[in-house]
Amino acid sequence: MKASVVLLPGDGIGPEVVAEGKRVLEAVAEKFGHQFEFSTHPIGGNAIDDFGTALPDDSLAACKTSDAVLLGAVGGPKWDDPKAKTRPEAGLLALRKELGLFANLRPIKTHAKLLDASPLKTELVRDVDILFFRELTGGLYFGPSGRKPHSSGEEAFSTMLYNTEEIARIVRMAAEASKTRQKRVTLVDKANVLEVSRLWRQVTTQIMAEEFPEIAFDVVLVDAMAMYLVSRPRDFDVVVTENMFGDILTDEGSMITGSLGMLPSASLGSSGPGLYEPIHGSAPTIAGKGIANPLATILACAMLLRHSLGLENEAVAVETAVNRVLDQGYRTADISSGGPSIGTREMGDHVLKNLA
Ligand code: NAD
Ligand code: IPM
Ligand code: MN
Repeated sequence: MKASVVLLPGDGIGPEVVAEGKRVLEAVAEKFGHQFEFSTHPIGGNAIDDFGTALPDDSLAACKTSDAVLLGAVGGPKWDDPKAKTRPEAGLLALRKELGLFANLRPIKTHAKLLDASPLKTELVRDVDILFFRELTGGLYFGPSGRKPHSSGEEAFSTMLYNTEEIARIVRMAAEASKTRQKRVTLVDKANVLEVSRLWRQVTTQIMAEEFPEIAFDVVLVDAMAMYLVSRPRDFDVVVTENMFGDILTDEGSMITGSLGMLPSASLGSSGPGLYEPIHGSAPTIAGKGIANPLATILACAMLLRHSLGLENEAVAVETAVNRVLDQGYRTADISSGGPSIGTREMGDHVLKNLA
């Protein structure tokens, strides 16, 4: 197979982890006889510095004509001034919107040999396998927002806005995915308070009853979900929720696996290229030290192979290689529980060894 992959390393540890993802994709191409063509483009803070915008036109155009996009992370203290005209994060949001990537799949799966990396009790996190569907192009991130003068200074607002179709399309995608899993879907909302959540609940309940009667369906309020995720994470299979709830709950959920550095994600639309990224950010305090965990990005490459290129065997090969490395006991600092650790490049080396 021939495929074009756009690399968007971004800021902070982004370039370090994307370099390892690229090496893994190259190794997959070599082993399975594919041709992957890579092109690297700027996004985020470095793009603001060099081009005055977080998502240069050329970067967006390259993504649009590619088969898949692999992104590291954007952002950092250098660009954090609340009064700045533009922000690195705006580039990522624009990319998601422009590519129509309404569904963000975030798997939270524990590894048998890594259970003690979690701050939670081992017995609680064993065999956790949750697939979050986080809505990605609506809600507070994209609703009307602004500031106006106020007698006390200023007033600011962000609006959580969703329509029926935006809810229906991701709910259907989540329910379809649950068919090949435990056949359980949980909607997370705040319908006891928010009108927008009441629409989510109404649309989701109707779709689940009419189109997916064989799938077990329940709803959980988001505040309770924050608690259940750490008290009974094994009880969940597919979870579907709006943009910001999904953002927050999946960072929380990463602690089930032990580290943000373990969680990959795939952002998909109804057609066109998918965007693959670790769920973590640019980790400014460890950037440049060569100690970031590249496994989230490498696992995102497996999702890229599966979802955008239809290469299931290759995806499984990458996941198996990661599992073996963990079985062999190799750990980056974030998952070493204070024991011996290896660096980003070395971790990549071990994945490559196991892939071969
Ligand atoms: P972060 O995810 O960058 O870091 C949170 C914590 O996790 C830090 O302690 C960090 O060192 C650690 N960590 C994250 N990834 C790691 C890895 N691969 N290996 C080892 N440790 C890792 O979140 P933050 O510090 O809140 O945000 C930093 C910047 O990143 C902000 O500018 C934020 O906007 C941005 N951000 C970007 C993305 C993205 O590009 N998708 C996601 C989240 C945050
Ligand atoms: C994520 C990040 C982004 C988000 C930011 C950087 C815009 O936190 O991918 O989880 O909030 O979606
Ligand atoms: Mn986030």
